[in-house]
Amino acid sequence: MQKYKYSGNYDDPVLAELYDRFEAYSNDIELLQRLIGSSKPLNILECFSGTGRILIPLAKEGHRITGIEISKCMNNRAVKKIDTLDENIQKQITLKVQDVLDSDWGSGYDLIIMGANAFYELSSSQQQERCIELAHEALVTEGLIFIDNNDYKGDWGKGPFGKERIGFEGYCTDGTYGKGTAKDLRFDDKNQVLEMKHTWYTRGTNGKEIIVEYLCSKHLVSANEVEFWLKKYSFHILKIFGDRQGNPYTTESNRAIFWAKKS
Ligand SMILES: C[S@@+](CC[C@H](N)C(=O)[O-])C[C@H]1O[C@@H](n2cnc3c(N)ncnc32)[C@H](O)[C@@H]1O
Repeated sequence: MQKYKYSGNYDDPVLAELYDRFEAYSNDIELLQRLIGSSKPLNILECFSGTGRILIPLAKEGHRITGIEISKCMNNRAVKKIDTLDENIQKQITLKVQDVLDSDWGSGYDLIIMGANAFYELSSSQQQERCIELAHEALVTEGLIFIDNNDYKGDWGKGPFGKERIGFEGYCTDGTYGKGTAKDLRFDDKNQVLEMKHTWYTRGTNGKEIIVEYLCSKHLVSANEVEFWLKKYSFHILKIFGDRQGNPYTTESNRAIFWAKKS
């Protein structure tokens, strides 16, 4: 079976449509808007930009924004939404289909966003740390970074393993059915890496079925690791939130959302 290099492959139009339908929350965008405040229009980079859920509202507020997204299908949905916006807003948005780990982020950004559990897309702590290093290189002095992830508490090694979990499931507007499942296979304790099998099933309106299976892994990241990397790359941590409502982080929090400044 093929091994995908990161923790999940979103490059399917049905998956992209279901993602948009089910991941329609906005409390992280509202938190970002409060943090940005009434500043002048910023030059923003969003890594892992997906279907534009975060970047479109920020562009509508006057910011210039670049998105980097590995999946063509996810990016195509962002393009479709952007095409319906006022021409002046469209001109403020640049989308790049590329792997964030291929560097080439551009430079001179006032703010870099890695939201929506972005680090859980990656399969090693080295890849996650590299994102913080690249962010440091791409930001202006005193530039800001927003990183939003679950705070891994070290409890996934117990399993259960071999049990199927449903991710996305539903019908697209054209009647195509899609269902994504994941099975945890084993846990690498030393590297805190979870190895999984993903299955992506689609059934067209003509009854044609397609099953795509692949192996993948993800490094479960903790607040302590993110804090360590931010300090290592000379970021000054301004705030750590424990949820997307903006409550302060405590060791009991499920999330750790960092707002930090390049010094
Ligand atoms: C959970 S989605 C989040 C999308 C968007 N930021 C949002 O909040 O709705 C994660 C996205 O990261 C993308 N992604 C995963 N690994 C990536 C990589 N190495 N480089 C660029 N994008 C990546 C996936 O294709 C997916 O669209």
